[in-house]
Amino acid sequence: MSLLIKGGTIVTHEETFKADILCKDNKIVEIGSISNIPKDAEIIDATGKLIMPGGIDPHTHMQLPFMGTVAKDDFASGTVAALAGGTTTIIDFVIPNPQQSLMEAYKQWREWAEKAHSNYTFHVAITWWDESVSKDMATLTEEYGVNSFKHFMAYKNAIMATDDILVSSFTRCLELGAVPTVHAENGELVYHLQNKLLAEGMTGPEAHPLSRPSSVEGEAANRAISIANTLGAPIYLVHVSTEEAVDAIRYAKDKGHTVFGEVLAGHLTVDESVYQNTDWATAAAHVMSPPFRPKKHQDALWNGVQAGTLQTTATDHCAFCAEQKAMGKDNFAMIPNGTAGVEERMMVLWEKGVNAGKITPNEFVALTSTNSAKIFNMYPNKGCIRVGSDADLVIWNPEATKTISAKTHHSNIEHSVYEGMEINGVPETTICNGKLAWHNNTLLSKSGDGKYIDRPTYAPFYESLKKRKELNKPLAVKR
Ligand code: URP
Ligand code: ZN
Ligand code: ZN
Repeated sequence: MSLLIKGGTIVTHEETFKADILCKDNKIVEIGSISNIPKDAEIIDATGKLIMPGGIDPHTHMQLPFMGTVAKDDFASGTVAALAGGTTTIIDFVIPNPQQSLMEAYKQWREWAEKAHSNYTFHVAITWWDESVSKDMATLTEEYGVNSFKHFMAYKNAIMATDDILVSSFTRCLELGAVPTVHAENGELVYHLQNKLLAEGMTGPEAHPLSRPSSVEGEAANRAISIANTLGAPIYLVHVSTEEAVDAIRYAKDKGHTVFGEVLAGHLTVDESVYQNTDWATAAAHVMSPPFRPKKHQDALWNGVQAGTLQTTATDHCAFCAEQKAMGKDNFAMIPNGTAGVEERMMVLWEKGVNAGKITPNEFVALTSTNSAKIFNMYPNKGCIRVGSDADLVIWNPEATKTISAKTHHSNIEHSVYEGMEINGVPETTICNGKLAWHNNTLLSKSGDGKYIDRPTYAPFYESLKKRKELNKPLAVKR
């Protein structure tokens, strides 16, 4: 089965040019002026449209068991939302319970994900430590295509990774050639501030950002980066939301350390005033961690994007409905943390980034797809448009408009943090594995069409990191 996209303008992270694209099975097989059209080809007219690599969202939580409930979007509804928004691959998180075997949790998530419509792959969280965890990390990297491990520095008494765990796991990541990633918030401070606020009678969602001030993230970002630098390991910070964390990443990069930063479309565009909403349910719908921030942090995040300090954009899609949020009616610390956004990420970035003149269309591609593909070793299969690359593409209509609303989105919840946002330029067609998956507002993919993506470790990068560490080592003194 072939698919020919005719007359469009290709936009990659590095160039923009007019050409047709021929896809066969799940690969791009020809790019140029294609006149020799295969008999079985389905033809899509892309005149006036842009063709970009399918989006990669490096941070989602479908069906996550979390804070006493389970996220409302499973791998079916969540990936339908992804495709409707031009995203063809998600990187979700396997999060073992403390003491649960990594392999058992990983297999459970693989089973849940079998119903995915889009492609998917997994980071695996390190929530506890012993020899079996260290051994499973090797099995996952060597046999199951996992090249990144996640560490939650927050969520005390649940999945928090303490410093001893960070040291053991980052060391192991470096040995194995995997990228350690962190949710950087000081869990002890959050716990202390939550209890203090509750004791003072602050029980509503407006207390949520007060329990997680920007310094809580700044401290953890600096600590995680220092631990990684000391060990010679790279580090990737998820959902960077503060000026302090951007500064920590920029400082470390200036010193030659390998540090990556991810920013959420939500943190770039929604500010903390949402927690002052007089309607409890609306304020609670915005409870996520780190919280939405005062506007000055948004400016710092955009500066970080423009300067290359932050390289990827994500959503942290973790959808909880109003009934689930109401679990924290009398105690803000019990409101399940998370918001949706996998469908809106690319549109929001286009409107508030490209249309606002903050980033170019090529930078948009880098931020929404290519950089994640490179950091997590899926490039050049994913994140680019080349002969031989996977046929994961989005056809973007820069002239079309849309108003974002929970009434029309595909997530299973009744709220959108982007409600009412006007978008100029929308994804019209999403091609996943060489097939039309979303076209003119119609879902064409089936549950189970999504493929698991193996992400082997990237040996040359780790060899050079280890060599750097060796070069910096002083010689032992002979006595
Ligand atoms: O509030 C959030 N972000 N929920 C999901 C878990 C996490 O911290 O990423
Ligand atoms: Zn997080
Ligand atoms: Zn998350």
